[in-house]
Amino acid sequence: MTGNNGFRPSKHCLKACSSFVLASILAFTLQIYFFSPISPDPLHLPHVSAALNLPTSNKLQEVAKIGEGFLNKPEDLCFDKEGILYTATRDGWIKRLHRNGSWEDWRLIGGDTLLGVTTTRTGGIIVCDTQKGLLKVGEDGVSVLTSHVNGTEIRFADDVIEASDGSLYFSVASSKFGLHDWYLDVLEAKPHGQLLKYDPLLNETSMLLDNLAFANGVALSEDEDFLVVCETWKFRCLKYWLKGERKGRTEVFVDNLPGGPDNINLAPDGSFWIALLELSQEGMWFVHTSKASKHLVAAFPKLQGLIQGMRKKAMVVKVGADGKMMKRFNDPNGSVMSFVTNALEFEEHLYLGSLNTNFIGKLLLRTA
Ligand SMILES: *[C@@H]1O[C@H](CO)[C@@H](O)[C@H](O)[C@H]1NC(C)=O
Ligand SMILES: *[C@@H]1O[C@H](CO)[C@@H](O)[C@H](O)[C@H]1NC(C)=O
Ligand SMILES: *[C@@H]1O[C@H](CO)[C@@H](O)[C@H](O)[C@H]1NC(C)=O
Ligand SMILES: *[C@@H]1O[C@H](CO)[C@@H](O)[C@H](O)[C@H]1NC(C)=O
Repeated sequence: MTGNNGFRPSKHCLKACSSFVLASILAFTLQIYFFSPISPDPLHLPHVSAALNLPTSNKLQEVAKIGEGFLNKPEDLCFDKEGILYTATRDGWIKRLHRNGSWEDWRLIGGDTLLGVTTTRTGGIIVCDTQKGLLKVGEDGVSVLTSHVNGTEIRFADDVIEASDGSLYFSVASSKFGLHDWYLDVLEAKPHGQLLKYDPLLNETSMLLDNLAFANGVALSEDEDFLVVCETWKFRCLKYWLKGERKGRTEVFVDNLPGGPDNINLAPDGSFWIALLELSQEGMWFVHTSKASKHLVAAFPKLQGLIQGMRKKAMVVKVGADGKMMKRFNDPNGSVMSFVTNALEFEEHLYLGSLNTNFIGKLLLRTA
């Protein structure tokens, strides 16, 4: 009767529904595994014993905010010999701060892809553009210095430093993923980073190192006898010898850092300031050790936001020329600064760039 009739369709429905659910799960799994943007390896947290001996402080909560409201996520900054500060912002500008305290919209490049900046001996600055390569920006305008290495387009140029002979050493964070997909490089945990050199006399770009784990900040030692390049998701920085009998060789400069090293800058005393990123939120690290969860997170950008810890904290460390940890400053809850990407010492102050602020942090170091 009606009861029976009523039952049969729902049984059909159950069968259809379960087939549908099964098909969906299959499609979902296929989608996540076979069309995954990543082919991941597990990533393990380093042992941070050396760093833990240092007291942590809330020092980064004491910064003065300069250029507040005027600077859209100033990732990197530099000073020229007149003491003018330059920074590249997410709205495509190179902005600068004059000695008299006034900010200037100096040059518009456009896009949201400008990262590392450095001043040059011959005037003007060099900017890393993750789309175009290495740019020279001066009073006479903007030009592309290099856009290719070995016939391949340079994507994701990240940080640059000029040596006294005019050579430019620069990093490519990932030759696989772009700036907006940078977290996929962390999830994949396979090394796609490079260290490149641009020779201005030959107008040639060459590759010094390949297979780096998200090559980020680059800095020269005081005597320019070695270069340091940061490998973000390996929580370490490498030393690449430029002079002497070890020339061309690579060794570990500092490892087991308490965060992923971003930009690095030489300090006036010959040591280095390194900004460290909290790559994962507390309690979420398991995602980095399981391939399945990496595929899942890679498929859903919103999940990536949940995993990432950069916007919750900030940390910078000072590391001696011998690789020993000397100081550590934090904003443990990110209430003043988070996602600090750069720490540069200039005239007794530490200047802090970030991908999550509308200002540059300025900290007096004498009391620090
Ligand atoms: C500050 O210096 C710059 C560069 O010399 C100049 O263009 C600007 O007008 C000065 N601003 C003030 C407020 O004096
Ligand atoms: C440069 O390209 C050539 C030919 O494609 C290749 O054989 C060589 O390994 C490349 N060199 C580097 C450093 O990538
Ligand atoms: C440098 O080389 C590139 C091609 O590799 C060329 O387009 C550019 O014009 C050259 N620049 C100078 C200053 O010679
Ligand atoms: C962040 O930490 C500071 C102390 O360092 C505290 O005063 C402040 O209330 C904290 N803010 C939040 C949002 O937890």
